[in-house]
Amino acid sequence: MNRTRVIARAVDVTRSYTLGTETVMALNGISMDIYEGEYLSIMGPSGSGKSTFFNMIGALDIPTSGTIEFMGADLFSLPEARQAWIRCNKIGYIFQTFNLVMVMSALENVALPLILRGDEPEAASKRAAEVLDHVGLSDRLHHLPDQLSGGQRQRVAIARALANAPAVILADEPTGNLDKATGAEIIELLKRLQIENHATIITATHDVKMLDISDRIAWIRDGKLERLEDRANVQIHMGGLGDAH
Ligand SMILES: Nc1ncnc2c1ncn2[C@@H]1O[C@H](COP(=O)(O)OP(=O)(O)O)[C@@H](O)[C@H]1O
Ligand SMILES: [Mg+2]
Repeated sequence: MNRTRVIARAVDVTRSYTLGTETVMALNGISMDIYEGEYLSIMGPSGSGKSTFFNMIGALDIPTSGTIEFMGADLFSLPEARQAWIRCNKIGYIFQTFNLVMVMSALENVALPLILRGDEPEAASKRAAEVLDHVGLSDRLHHLPDQLSGGQRQRVAIARALANAPAVILADEPTGNLDKATGAEIIELLKRLQIENHATIITATHDVKMLDISDRIAWIRDGKLERLEDRANVQIHMGGLGDAH
């Protein structure tokens, strides 16, 4: 992680939802710098605002107030076409439920975003095969999602996120639908991608295994940033807890 280079910055971000007469503050003034090449885990109970925060960093939703800077630009004052370009070329998205197209093969799922951004089909297929190989699925290119295990589906989704060589990978509860052992493999894979691809990885999780490999951990509660700490400090803290037992 290069602490001098900020890749994304949230400044006093809020997001409220109004349902009928009730207003929910999903994010209540979050400010945070995210550094180039770091592995940042966002921890917090269900409903604390993790996905809402992700959607802001990933240009999928607009803050009610506050700003997001992405690679030096004020994201939401950019023209919509430029925001779309950033989504297509600079960010990879991974979701808990994989979000694969069920009637398309692994190869087609991974090639799809490349074709949508205008790559030639042949080049897109070649790149898709390459990233599927990178995540260990070279022997599953033509399988449909329902012919794959949960872990393999998430690998396809990771390959899809990697296809455009993104600067930032956003993984929202990537192990949430997987058993422990498969989840651990996915965590290993994300860590490998951070190192080999020099990607910035931001995960939302309540999987404590994610703590071991994170550079920093942001703890979110009730839409607020409770703490932001280096993994080294978390280990000392947890060691302390261990001694007490
Ligand atoms: N589309 C929406 N409409 C209304 N309320 C929402 C919507 N999305 C999220 N919320 C509310 O915002 C809060 C934060 O949700 P979310 O970001 O999904 O939390 P997390 O990902 O940490 O589980 C929750 O109280 C949730 O109910
Ligand atoms: Mg969520």
